[in-house]
Amino acid sequence: MLIALLPGDGIGPEVIAETRRVLEALSLDSLHFEEALVGGAAYKATGHPLPPETLDLARRADAILFGAVGDPDCDALERHLRPEQAILGLRKELGLFANLRPAKLFPELADASALRPEVASQIDMVIVRELNGDVYFGEKGMRTTADGKREGYDIMSYDEDEVRRIARVGFETAMARGKKLCSVDKANVLETSQLWRDVVIETAQEYPDVALSHMYVDNAAMQLVRNPGQFDVIVTGNLFGDILSDQASMCAGSIGMLPSASLDSAQKGLYEPIHGSAPDIAGQGKANPLATILSAAMMLRYSLNHATAADRIERAVAMALANGARSPDLGGTLSTREMGDAVLAALT
Ligand code: NAD
Ligand code: IPM
Ligand code: MN
Repeated sequence: MLIALLPGDGIGPEVIAETRRVLEALSLDSLHFEEALVGGAAYKATGHPLPPETLDLARRADAILFGAVGDPDCDALERHLRPEQAILGLRKELGLFANLRPAKLFPELADASALRPEVASQIDMVIVRELNGDVYFGEKGMRTTADGKREGYDIMSYDEDEVRRIARVGFETAMARGKKLCSVDKANVLETSQLWRDVVIETAQEYPDVALSHMYVDNAAMQLVRNPGQFDVIVTGNLFGDILSDQASMCAGSIGMLPSASLDSAQKGLYEPIHGSAPDIAGQGKANPLATILSAAMMLRYSLNHATAADRIERAVAMALANGARSPDLGGTLSTREMGDAVLAALT
């Protein structure tokens, strides 16, 4: 099994280094690692954020473990050269349309959440975010209006096949859990969302056992902090899913805790924390590596058929937290390396 390691920028290399140590400690002789440049690091070395060799490695690999991209030095580059284009390009080129972002609170972290412990402790959900369409991939540009003003535009659209395939992932995910699916949209304003809602309702006929509900995205943002326990699975578009998952992370204690899987139609996957390159703490050993370590567990489970190894990692993370391991985002003082050490020490 070949794993492509793409550390990227900022804290990406720091959290990937700890994750690699944990994977190596599992002593699964079937795992091999190959590393490549991506994002700002790749741009600085090669002039492109997603060099052909990196894309080639990602295609050859059985699974991809991704850190994060984004570098303030690159913010003034033309858009197609910016680090973020690397992750967007990988998702699109590899057809990774289904992004699973589980959000659950480790009981030990009840005090780390921004919510009251009795509210936060209810959160145990999966956000299923569409990843290949929406306003992210529509036509975009800058133009000058007739009266000489600058105008930026980004077209938002979904076609019915795109909605149907992600709706099915939402229903399947719900079937494997609590059989409740909440589709989040803005159908009161957006035609894109009206189609979304219509197609989700049609798809529901294939899943009579799932209780389907619909919620506008503004209300969903509010409900996530009012009562996160009401959600089992949320299915939503690319932009709304991006925003709601960062918000859900704070119910679970920290953005440094949430992993994700981005899957194609054949369970090929890219695995990454939901957070970014965190330039404000990069290079200081302050990053929490647990989101990335938990992403590696998802990789073992979904793409590498190693459920027992995935369980071992998740148990070790829970044990490390139970033993009091806390990085600064969780209110503690452990460094990135020490958090990795704590997980390694708890690995059985
Ligand atoms: P961010 O997620 O990088 O950081 C937001 C805040 O959370 C920061 O204060 C940061 O210090 C903190 N944080 C994030 N991860 C943490 C961790 N593991 N441990 C402790 N604290 C953590 O979001 P941002 O600041 O909006 O973006 C920074 C850069 O990252 C931008 O260039 C953005 O485009 C990029 N980004 C990339 C990805 C990705 O690669 N998939 C995701 C999000 C943002
Ligand atoms: C994420 C990030 C990316 C997104 C950016 C970096 C393109 O925020 O993975 O959540 O918006 O999808
Ligand atoms: Mn995001």
